[in-house]
Amino acid sequence: MSSDLYREIILDHYKNPRNYGKLERPDLTSRESNPLCGDIVEIQMALDGNKIGAIRFNGEGCAISRAATSMLVEYIEGKPLEEVKEIDKAVILEMLGVGEIGPSRIKCALLGLKVLKMAAYAHLGAKLSEEELREY
Ligand code: FES
Repeated sequence: MSSDLYREIILDHYKNPRNYGKLERPDLTSRESNPLCGDIVEIQMALDGNKIGAIRFNGEGCAISRAATSMLVEYIEGKPLEEVKEIDKAVILEMLGVGEIGPSRIKCALLGLKVLKMAAYAHLGAKLSEEELREY
């Protein structure tokens, strides 16, 4: 895909974020801020057995942060909660269609993933790795 098309997709997710809002009865909730700008993302999930039955996000953030979180929650809805463990920085960059991002913007791109992992890991009894803590 051309980079123009990727830019359009990012803009579309920014303007029309998927799964934006709140759940009435979430089983899991987590919120966290980007340490560099203070923007906050909250993610809520309702479980359906071991799967993510429904997922919503809300909060404030820049275009990259909002688009990456929108793509992420759309991707993970309906999948097993365990699959959250498989998602890393490379997956997010691929979703965004960019090769690399500068050190300040990468925190924007990974904010939603950090919040998703915190919510899922609290339930799964797992912890963010040292590398994840450094990256996010
Ligand atoms: Fe705040 Fe990107 S500038 S999340």
